[in-house]
Amino acid sequence: MTSPRSPQDTWKQMAGVAAANLIQEGMVVGLGTGSTAAYLVQALSQRIQQGLQIVGAVPSSQATYDLAASLNIPLTDLDIHPELDMYIDGADEIDPQLRLIKGAGGALLREKILASAARRFVVIADPSKKVTQLGHRFPLPVEIVPLAKTPIKLKLSKLGAQVELRHRDNIPFITDNHNYIFDCTFPQGISNPAEVDAQIHSIVGVVETGLFLNLAQQVVIGGPEGVQIFP
Ligand code: 5RP
Repeated sequence: MTSPRSPQDTWKQMAGVAAANLIQEGMVVGLGTGSTAAYLVQALSQRIQQGLQIVGAVPSSQATYDLAASLNIPLTDLDIHPELDMYIDGADEIDPQLRLIKGAGGALLREKILASAARRFVVIADPSKKVTQLGHRFPLPVEIVPLAKTPIKLKLSKLGAQVELRHRDNIPFITDNHNYIFDCTFPQGISNPAEVDAQIHSIVGVVETGLFLNLAQQVVIGGPEGVQIFP
């Protein structure tokens, strides 16, 4: 397993390992994307090497697919298994009601599809991800159809967002689904996530938002005091 390099990495790894221990024999599990989820994938691979038999894992991104395949985790998909026993993933922000902002890694659409297909969605994180109100620390990612970027940007601005097209290596970032991402900063934070989510979804050409509402059931936080699981 990769050695953690900072306390935050150590805490992410603790959360990933603890969540991998929640996976039981015969499960179909969804695997999230990002650095915390990578620790989960590594820990799951170790458990499989030690004898755990799962039916299969569904990755939420090409990056997670590649990592899981390289670690010999049996992979499956939603056509074969449209319902997941458990989905485990990181988050960028987690509020006290277990509402999330996700998508800094750019995989929010597939992540939300898997979260909504799961009987249980477990979030893994280090303490820095806990917030009292969403939208203060991370911009809200919104995945959009590229040809509609200019009218969508205008409409998002009218909702009060400062809108930035995500770039990587000086070119627009392209998601696994061949879309763009707008990172939307709401200067006052997001006091009513459901309303903001509905308003953004009403814009034609918006594919998905990084607001994960009423999806997470449990949070596993690794931190200096050890691992805490809520509720
Ligand atoms: C990717 C995500 C990640 O789960 C989120 O960005 C957290 O990443 P990390 O575990 O690297 O902090 O939503 O789209």
